[in-house]
Amino acid sequence: MEMTLPALVHSFTDRRVVVLGEAMLDSYLMGSADRLCQEAPVPVVTLSDRRDVPGGAANVAVNLRALGAQVSFLSVVGEDENGDRLRQALAHCGVKIDDLLVQTDRQTLVKQRIMAASQMVVRLDQGSIEAIALEMEQQLIDRLHKLVPSCDAIVISDYSYGLLTPRVLDAIAALQATAPKLLVVDSKRLASYRSLGATVVKPNYEEACRLLADPATTLTTAVETRLEFMARHREQLLNLTGADMVIVTLDTEGAVILQRQQAPQRIQAKPTTCRQATGAGDTFISALTLALASHAPVTIAAELAVTAAAVVIAKEGTETCSAEELQTILNTPMMHRIPTSVWNNDAEGNPSTQEVA
Ligand SMILES: Nc1ncnc2c1ncn2[C@@H]1O[C@H](COP(=O)(O)OP(=O)(O)OP(=O)(O)O)[C@@H](O)[C@H]1O
Ligand SMILES: [Mg+2]
Repeated sequence: MEMTLPALVHSFTDRRVVVLGEAMLDSYLMGSADRLCQEAPVPVVTLSDRRDVPGGAANVAVNLRALGAQVSFLSVVGEDENGDRLRQALAHCGVKIDDLLVQTDRQTLVKQRIMAASQMVVRLDQGSIEAIALEMEQQLIDRLHKLVPSCDAIVISDYSYGLLTPRVLDAIAALQATAPKLLVVDSKRLASYRSLGATVVKPNYEEACRLLADPATTLTTAVETRLEFMARHREQLLNLTGADMVIVTLDTEGAVILQRQQAPQRIQAKPTTCRQATGAGDTFISALTLALASHAPVTIAAELAVTAAAVVIAKEGTETCSAEELQTILNTPMMHRIPTSVWNNDAEGNPSTQEVA
């Protein structure tokens, strides 16, 4: 069946996605600094404003929602002010908070940044990182049983802060064994997901190197070397993660798709020099998931993911790409990066997808 890229993006509104991972609150305390403190050589910041935005796995939920999806966000927070702020921030972004569970003796994860104008002065991190309580684990598993059967995809955004316990992973493995769903995993410990048989795992280059226990390679910056290194370790990465596909994101240089018995395929990004490129990975995984859930071929899904990531890279701070913004780009004549010909016979597009030797 043929589908144009705008129709593909339009279909995102019908997709139901379960997001599972550690919810965080990203707080920005903003002010001005025009003098040094007398007690220590540090600036005195006079606060004038505050901005709270969903962070961690909550940012994936927000990105999926911005792209139009119906999102169930499953996580655990503490019974505290930061938890309330996070709920408000999520609701503000249109993400339902029904599945945000509360563990009374837990502290909500928060990253608090003190900003003097646009300059970050310090970041203060707080929150519980030990494994969630047994009864929370059970509640989480019960919710999974309730939500997963009717969803089109599951996205796991695992920060190793105590939510994805062995029991929770076993519960997902059991669900996958009975009725497999599109499962996309972003985790700093992807080897723990080996038995889950994920559809896609998405490490960035550094995470992929760490998985291969080759930290020295992370120092290499030349794109040819990074691509060649990933191509050489294709089978090893697939075996270590147990996934059908490993998509390694290469920041300014896009991404590379690794599949069994297939030459790696590189998706190029238009490099942008940005001050704070955070959250692009969350946008990438969100667009990728929705495109795959709408049955797009993986190269198209990754092209769309790179395009959506480029939208947030062009913005200040951690942002999202909306379905409308993506549509605008797809309808721009200069948009030649996506091989639209695959989906749309009469559109002209120069595929940038290339095989890596
Ligand atoms: N400076 C940049 N210019 C253009 N595209 C970029 C840039 N940085 C990231 N991207 C895009 O975002 C995608 C994800 O970036 P990256 O590889 O840094 O993932 P990540 O480390 O998981 O994300 P993040 O750094 O946001 O936590 C890349 O595949 C690329 O498409
Ligand atoms: Mg990165």
